[in-house]
Amino acid sequence: MRKQGGYENSARLYDLFDDKENLELFCNRAASSGEVIDVGAGTGRIAIPLARRGVRVYCVEPSPAMRRVFDQKLDREPQLRKRITLVPSYASSFEAGRRYPAAYLSGSFDHLLDDSERMAALSNVNRHLTTGGMLVFDVFLGSMGDKPLSPAGVAQTPEGEVRRFVGGRVLPGGRKETTLVFERYVKGELVERIEEHSLVGITSRPMIHDLLSRTGFELAHEWGDYDQEPYIDGDDMMIVEASKAHDIGE
Ligand SMILES: C[S@@+](CC[C@H](N)C(=O)[O-])C[C@H]1O[C@@H](n2cnc3c(N)ncnc32)[C@H](O)[C@@H]1O
Repeated sequence: MRKQGGYENSARLYDLFDDKENLELFCNRAASSGEVIDVGAGTGRIAIPLARRGVRVYCVEPSPAMRRVFDQKLDREPQLRKRITLVPSYASSFEAGRRYPAAYLSGSFDHLLDDSERMAALSNVNRHLTTGGMLVFDVFLGSMGDKPLSPAGVAQTPEGEVRRFVGGRVLPGGRKETTLVFERYVKGELVERIEEHSLVGITSRPMIHDLLSRTGFELAHEWGDYDQEPYIDGDDMMIVEASKAHDIGE
């Protein structure tokens, strides 16, 4: 299995900057199902609030550093451990041992680099859903061009502040390398600089429609933002909700 990068050195800073307003959308869509699979669960940013609401969450996360941060958060709320299962695995290969009524991928679909990875991941999710089960994921369609390293937020911490910079370059073969730089300042002095590189795959709306139908899903909704405004061609981001129409062959 391909080694996933991009989070190992900066996982402890992840929650400072993940300001995507998607918490509510994923929580609301998943909460009604009572239990859910969170694929690419990261630091538990969505799983933990869901578990607080009484939802059982089966979390798949390949990055040891992200799992470590997640686990430290559970140490602070140990009562949630009975509702959260956290496994080191990938979208394409996790084995939950039973089916669930819902699954989501928040920010992780983009890390599937080509159609064979996307097919394998969606097929595996299909295998883990009950018929009619719901799949929700977000995908960035707009930010796929070259971008020089540019400021992308400042977060205040008890020690000082952390500045983030984001850049990206398009690679051959429908991929993009994203560069993230974090600079940690204490009393105005730069005390640490972390540089992370991760790969994302470039997709399109028609490719996603095709993938969904080949992996047994029926499209239910396409939104252009987390407030659930309808997706319009050209929007940077698309949020997809699909339901499992039928099983697919192994
Ligand atoms: C942008 S983060 C999102 C984390 C979390 N879902 C959230 O919304 O805060 C993407 C996550 O996907 C994970 N990831 C990357 N490739 C993956 C794969 N093939 N299968 C499952 N998760 C993957 C990364 O390790 C990372 O934790």
